[in-house]
Amino acid sequence: MVMTPFATQLDLIEGTMENPDRVVVRHASDMRGHYKDADALERLVAAGDPVHYRVYEKAVPEVPGQLLFCVSILEPGTVGREYFMTKGHYHSVPDTAEAYLALHGQGYMLMKTAQGDCAWEFMMRGRLVYVPPHWAHRSINTGRERLVSFCVYPAHAGHNYGDIEAQGFPKRVVDQEGRPAFV
Ligand code: F6R
Ligand code: ZN
Repeated sequence: MVMTPFATQLDLIEGTMENPDRVVVRHASDMRGHYKDADALERLVAAGDPVHYRVYEKAVPEVPGQLLFCVSILEPGTVGREYFMTKGHYHSVPDTAEAYLALHGQGYMLMKTAQGDCAWEFMMRGRLVYVPPHWAHRSINTGRERLVSFCVYPAHAGHNYGDIEAQGFPKRVVDQEGRPAFV
């Protein structure tokens, strides 16, 4: 049976999608274990547990040949000196890539491989970051406004968060006198 074509409307500045099938909302409390300054994170949780990021998706069958796409909004802010970021993940099917188009705000895509390579790419409106197969990826908002991006990837890719929870990334991105530094 062939699938019926569909369309959706995105707001490229707000980072929202009309009639999403899934909205993932991650609060500060969902980020435990990811920031160096765990006490600063707990203070943020106690002060109201604000939203860190939202991801809007349409559902498609998660099988080879299909594409998943999403818009995401990562709020600005810091935990201690570390900029707000996504959890980050490898794909469960490791040989699947992902393209990220930045729409609003500023930040970085931080990437690493299991072999110890680490890389990052700047994100600002109009910049497309290509995350090749086998690279774990995390976005980081180093600006003062929301970081909004659009991503597309093979629908069967899946998410492996466990390896990042266990190992983290080789670099942290911190505010050093108002500028991002990779430490
Ligand atoms: C999908 C993908 C993005 C992220 C989103 C949230 O493969 O990379 O849609 O899922 O930016 O980040 P995570 O999933 O790391 O919480
Ligand atoms: Zn991904």
